[in-house]
Amino acid sequence: MEVLAIDGLAGTGKSTLARMLAKRLVLNYLDTGATFRMTAWAALKANANLDDEAEVVRATEGAAISFENGTCIVDGVDVSSKVRSDDVSAAASKIAVHPQIRQKLLKWQRSWVDKHGDSVVEGRDTTSVVFPDASLKVFLEADAGVRAARRSEAAADSTAARDQRDTGRATAPLVKVPDALVIDTTRLSLQEVETLVVKAWKRQKSRQREIG
Ligand code: DC
Repeated sequence: MEVLAIDGLAGTGKSTLARMLAKRLVLNYLDTGATFRMTAWAALKANANLDDEAEVVRATEGAAISFENGTCIVDGVDVSSKVRSDDVSAAASKIAVHPQIRQKLLKWQRSWVDKHGDSVVEGRDTTSVVFPDASLKVFLEADAGVRAARRSEAAADSTAARDQRDTGRATAPLVKVPDALVIDTTRLSLQEVETLVVKAWKRQKSRQREIG
């Protein structure tokens, strides 16, 4: 299975870039953040205390989540726009610290790729934990000010607070793996970043062909 994993902090353009790359390279697209958002939505709906791991697990274990062609479905309900709300963004970041939730979603994400085939998989920890053997791992960076300005939800849950939670958590914190292609997007357009990644992907494919 060929995986192109895109990792990095909030506001670096990960999601848009991943969708562009999937289209350009004719690969499936999995937004792992959406799996945390759908689970968070289910937890909020059940009024669970988001800081209580056992309660979040109990409240969400029966929820059937699905991600197909960019559409998020929880228990048959299309929640694609609801999961982008500020409330759900903050809740997703909170439940993402719970190891049992991460473990469950890790399995879900790997089996999604098994079922769908070659994919662009986007989200923090996709290069370090979910697909450490991905064919190509990309890590996106950008100055904090630029990242905050790119995010519409910055007012409700500041980019800095999310960065802190995402990098500081004990389980699967955001890390830059040594073999990642690191791209600073501060002064690059999405098209320029796309071009860099497409080139790296093609190089990687021809290297694989040479090896055999
Ligand atoms: O990428 P996003 O903003 O949609 O992610 C929402 C939250 O989910 C984010 O605050 C952290 C969490 N997340 C994670 O912990 N691991 C991932 N692979 C993807 C997202």
